[in-house]
Amino acid sequence: MTINELIRKKREGAVLSPEELHFIISGYVGGTIPDYQMSAFLMATFFRGMSSEETYAFTQLMLHSGEVVDLSFIPGKKVDKHSTGGVGDKISLPLAPIVAACGVPVPMISGRGLGHTGGTLDKLEAIPGFNTALSIEEYKNVIAEIGVVMIGQTKEIAPADKKMYALRDVTATVECIPLIAGSIMSKKLAEGIDALVLDIKTGRGAFMPTYEQAVELAQALVGIGNRFGKETIGFITDMSQPLGYAIGNWNEIMESVDCLRGKNIPDIMELTYVLGGAMVMLGQPKADQLSAEKKASSLKEGIERCKNAVKSGAAYEKFVRMVKRQGGDISFIEHPEKYLSSKFSRTVAAQESGYVTTIDALELGLTSVQLGAGRMKVDDVIDPKAGILLAKKTGDAVKKEEPLATFFTDNKSIVDSAAERIAKAFTIGNIPPQRSPLILSIVDKNGVKPFAMS
Ligand code: URA
Repeated sequence: MTINELIRKKREGAVLSPEELHFIISGYVGGTIPDYQMSAFLMATFFRGMSSEETYAFTQLMLHSGEVVDLSFIPGKKVDKHSTGGVGDKISLPLAPIVAACGVPVPMISGRGLGHTGGTLDKLEAIPGFNTALSIEEYKNVIAEIGVVMIGQTKEIAPADKKMYALRDVTATVECIPLIAGSIMSKKLAEGIDALVLDIKTGRGAFMPTYEQAVELAQALVGIGNRFGKETIGFITDMSQPLGYAIGNWNEIMESVDCLRGKNIPDIMELTYVLGGAMVMLGQPKADQLSAEKKASSLKEGIERCKNAVKSGAAYEKFVRMVKRQGGDISFIEHPEKYLSSKFSRTVAAQESGYVTTIDALELGLTSVQLGAGRMKVDDVIDPKAGILLAKKTGDAVKKEEPLATFFTDNKSIVDSAAERIAKAFTIGNIPPQRSPLILSIVDKNGVKPFAMS
């Protein structure tokens, strides 16, 4: 077997065997296959795809390129959530402590911001002192003690993905369903979970802009999860406008804290409660033995339990314990006025009266990267204070000169261009737009169904 031969096979559209995929992945991790040949293989895969058997074998090989954490010493079903990424998507921050407060352990390994989308790790690191680089031993200790832990991918977790992902990022091979599925699921399956809830985004601000692509990705992810014996449910959700009002790392921490303290920001809380409800339902000891109807009502029950965890203050308390345990300085959460302010800020106002008909999430995500909230190059340093606070959401009435958004940055040279981009990201019309659902579909082992809370 040679790598040239396997690249050619994939280029011609052949299905590779598990042995052939093993040769490629182990060769790449071990350093016998260089980046240039791996890049060619990835590009061939980008155009030719993988069969579901190949995607399964690929995921398995990526998973076993590193350690698979064993959390069986912790009682109960461990459940995590993964989002394919969006703008203002801070859902993991309120969600994980809420679900943990319901008694379901949440071991979460998250990623950094990618392109125009934010990453949970960058948000957590906006809290002074918060350590996302725990060893596997510490990761196990924190989840055992508190019931929730949030860290980044360590060198032990799916190292093949870590190396391959960096290469995909610079070779335009990210947006490929089997590669995304293998990448996401190898990391999630390595965490020690028993079940998984997925939030697959669609719309302008998502990596899968069309609904059809999102369904295809959801089916690949859910199929792999279930095949590995982890009950997996996916939700296809809208990412055409940012989630909530805050974009940028510290802004999003503070918005999440507000939600954990009981503030109802409708889109954030709707999504948090549905994803959380599903996690609590999957975390039930005998969930698999319940009938379909009972499971549906369990989602409702799960949602109710999540709501109670916020109302009682238990979810916020969990969050505080986790932040303290991972080295974060809680005084900044309790006294946000202590946090350094950006050197420059500007408010963008409406040029006309009417209704906000669309807010371009992609454009706001790209602008917030430019402000300093994300990276343009891998080694860029994030400015945690940078970002955008929306004053209006889609459907809101607005008067001429009323604020649409305020942004924050330390980079004076981009203030004028950012103001222009943000103004253009809002469309204002004469009639209110039709309300479209935030949660579009649910995908499980039985297929894809429109989502409805009955
Ligand atoms: N997130 C991942 O972890 N991997 C991908 O390939 C895309 C998004």
